[in-house]
Amino acid sequence: MAYMNAQDIRNAYLQFFKDRGHAVIPRALLVPYNDPTTLFTGSGMQPLIPYLLGETHADGVRLTDSQTCLRAQDIEEVGDNRHTTFFEMLGNWSLGDYFKAEQLPWFWEFLTDTVGLDPNKLYVSCFMGDEANGIPRDTEAAAIWKKLYAAKGIDALEADMGSEEDGYVRGMKPGERIFFYDAGKNWWCRAGKIGDMPAGEPGGPDSEMFYEFDFIEHDTSYGEHCHPNCDCGRFMEIGNSVFMEYVKREQGFEKLPKQNVDFGGGLERIAAAALNSPDVFKISLLWPVIAKLESVSGKKYDSHTESMRVIADHLRAATFLAVDGVSPSNKEQGYVMRRLLRRAIRFAFELGIEQNFLEQVVPVIADLYEADYPEVKQNRDKVIEILVKEEKVFRQTLRKGLQVFDRLVLAPDEFQSGQVRATTPIGQREITSRLKELSGSDVFKLYDTYGFPFELTLEEAIKRPDVLLRKNWKQEFEAKMAEQRSRSQTAAKGTFKGGLGGQTLQHKKYHTATHLMYQALRDVLGPHVVQHGSNITEERLRFDFSHPEKVTHEQLMLVEDIVNDQIGRDLKVSWAEYPTDEATGPLGALGQFGDRYGETVKVYKMIADKADKPFSFEICGGPHVDHTLQLFEDGKKFRIIKEESSSAGIRRIKAVLA
Ligand code: ALA
Repeated sequence: MAYMNAQDIRNAYLQFFKDRGHAVIPRALLVPYNDPTTLFTGSGMQPLIPYLLGETHADGVRLTDSQTCLRAQDIEEVGDNRHTTFFEMLGNWSLGDYFKAEQLPWFWEFLTDTVGLDPNKLYVSCFMGDEANGIPRDTEAAAIWKKLYAAKGIDALEADMGSEEDGYVRGMKPGERIFFYDAGKNWWCRAGKIGDMPAGEPGGPDSEMFYEFDFIEHDTSYGEHCHPNCDCGRFMEIGNSVFMEYVKREQGFEKLPKQNVDFGGGLERIAAAALNSPDVFKISLLWPVIAKLESVSGKKYDSHTESMRVIADHLRAATFLAVDGVSPSNKEQGYVMRRLLRRAIRFAFELGIEQNFLEQVVPVIADLYEADYPEVKQNRDKVIEILVKEEKVFRQTLRKGLQVFDRLVLAPDEFQSGQVRATTPIGQREITSRLKELSGSDVFKLYDTYGFPFELTLEEAIKRPDVLLRKNWKQEFEAKMAEQRSRSQTAAKGTFKGGLGGQTLQHKKYHTATHLMYQALRDVLGPHVVQHGSNITEERLRFDFSHPEKVTHEQLMLVEDIVNDQIGRDLKVSWAEYPTDEATGPLGALGQFGDRYGETVKVYKMIADKADKPFSFEICGGPHVDHTLQLFEDGKKFRIIKEESSSAGIRRIKAVLA
């Protein structure tokens, strides 16, 4: 069988599921549309949540795609052989159509017959059941797997792996291939843990597939015995079939009206398995970037592995973020992009790469994705411009950081007594003859407030004869970092608190108000107004749109009046499906800048009783309220509370129902 590279695998996968009645849908942007619960699209299912919960999808009940994903929480993990912040997740979905009996054999056939993986190297896991939550053991999936192995001449034994609390100490025994794990491993929901699921969130038992690198010996520092979910590196998870049939309610779990399948497979990891390489950076979508770094730096991957991995991953992620409309900033998505870029640039410094490296690496990435995501190449120059600009800002930050470092070192009231060294010139200044101790808090302050990387603080401290690092600086620094992490985790949890975006009535109201405001803005300002983003929480709507100048107070008042007037007419809200060409062409449905659509789209219409033309007609997945008067419940009115610039040529409005 011919060897398949990553691009071949992606295309073969989409074709495989197309041949089995699935509509191929385009990737969603990395920045989720209308979902305030999370900063990035982190799995293939995320853009499809409304449909998994029961909304009708315009492309039918069988869908497949390759979804570009970003998992910012993995930034610090990047550098090992398998973690990347950016990756593609191959997905196939059944929206209340087929279930386990089709899904598992299809995935198996794809891996073993299409990609050609050796079935002897494949291991699977199934859900053990969870009595406390009333969810049964998945014997059905296990029976299907047993048959599939048998058809390849393998007698697959089953094993119970114990619980998460005991660390799955049992390990695995020869001949075992089908492993039952508890909810710690085989329950999938966005919140991660079954116990953290907010009401309204869908989830279900899953069955994971692992590839074994049999030449890697188990490392006992990860536990006495190896097993598929052990982190020692012998096993790599390559795909996950989630049987999405539950939804969390206040009072406990309920079955969803329909049984769904949510499958996600890591393209990069499947490609690494096809190479029988535990190093995902060796695959065809990453290696050319590494090779470029080798040639630009004159150094070898083998001796600079971690730095090159970090740079390759982070630049690929930053490139896609820029393509999807993000630019570096101190907030939300922009902040993550800034961190990624600065880490990449810093690691590049370490490799001794100083000049024009972004201009050289980004085109390699653009070429790799040219055939499948042409938007990367089309935006190549814009991406380079954004990235290079951030590099300049970062260099300024570094200069500023050095000044602050100087100030900290010179702060007289913090001088330690009794440590005397000869007078040392720093720059033009003569400083006192005493030594300054730099504490962990100083290092943290430089890092946190001024963006000065702590590695550079250390280097600077070592270079300077007048500075000592306080003995326990590291513990102090780490304690501060841990504090910050727990603060940001609490903040991240907060974004989940309101339950699932798109589900509550409040969310629907704001979503409907957003459509009305979009049309009103076009009526007042003109047809150049195009949506560039929307974000809805339980408390407000936020809407970004193209407009070259500040919207005047009078214009805002007018928009507010139009929206309130339309709400007062109690427009009926409904949707229908149209061929995309027709919707965006003659019918003139509004859309969002940069959105890609399949062959047909769902269009929401808001129309007054007896009117011959809808007020609002917009492509959208939903959901919305049924009648606009619902927005006035409890005596509320639509009010614009803020208008500001979002980025060049883009304005941002925040509005409330209050
Ligand atoms: N949504 C599932 C995952 O991310 C497939 O693993």
